[in-house]
Amino acid sequence: MAQDVVVSVLGAGSYGTALAISLARKGLRILLWGHEAAHVAELEQARCNEAFLPGVPFPDSLELTADLAYAVQASKTLLVVHHTPSPHCQEMFEAVLAGATDPEIEGVEVVRRPALTCSPSDALAADGYLIGSPVNLGYLSGAVKHAFDQLYYPCLDATRGRPFGVWLHGNEGTEGAVRALDAITTGLGWARAADAVVVSGKPTKADLEVCWNLGATVAASLME
Ligand SMILES: Cc1cc2nc3c(=O)[nH]c(=O)nc-3n(C[C@H](O)[C@H](O)[C@H](O)COP(=O)(O)O)c2cc1C
Repeated sequence: MAQDVVVSVLGAGSYGTALAISLARKGLRILLWGHEAAHVAELEQARCNEAFLPGVPFPDSLELTADLAYAVQASKTLLVVHHTPSPHCQEMFEAVLAGATDPEIEGVEVVRRPALTCSPSDALAADGYLIGSPVNLGYLSGAVKHAFDQLYYPCLDATRGRPFGVWLHGNEGTEGAVRALDAITTGLGWARAADAVVVSGKPTKADLEVCWNLGATVAASLME
């Protein structure tokens, strides 16, 4: 599973190497670019920049490249905001994620946030959204509602036109949650990339395939 953030550092001299190592030590995935392929190969072999920063090994999350286009390619971010309180919801969540992270979908980083931890900056930084909730009291779960309460005004206008998809699990009153999501996403001006997926009871194989397709469809919409 790709980590949430990839940072490219251009230049494998002393400053670039030190910056890349510092960021990698914080757990970020780092791409350190050097202009000379032979030098980059040496760094990869030694996992250390002996010329500029001797004795300081590269963390595992530091990747090297001499390919500038690869280093600077813009990747898109798909934010998955979900409240997953039960095994049935978990099955749906995992199927959506599996679709969104299918290896054939390139250049899309998938960031997941349990709804209570989703910040407005997570939402602003994303290029598209997948939202998953159980149906509680005929509405969205409080956790997902809270995420929208927090992100709504910061995202208003700033995220207009971004693609989204939703999945819900519940037995009764699901139409209330669907209606709520329609109203919220219409207000935000988000663009529906796939039909809402609503599942009751234990998700069947077919239900999980629909969830997979939801994740893959919204992720693939970011490649266009
Ligand atoms: C406070 C609360 C309210 C709920 N209200 C509804 C509801 O209105 N309709 C419904 O179908 N399920 C309701 N549920 C059940 C959840 O939707 C259900 O737990 C969730 O979809 C996961 O399903 P599972 O427990 O079968 O895995 C409620 C659950 C809680 C905790």
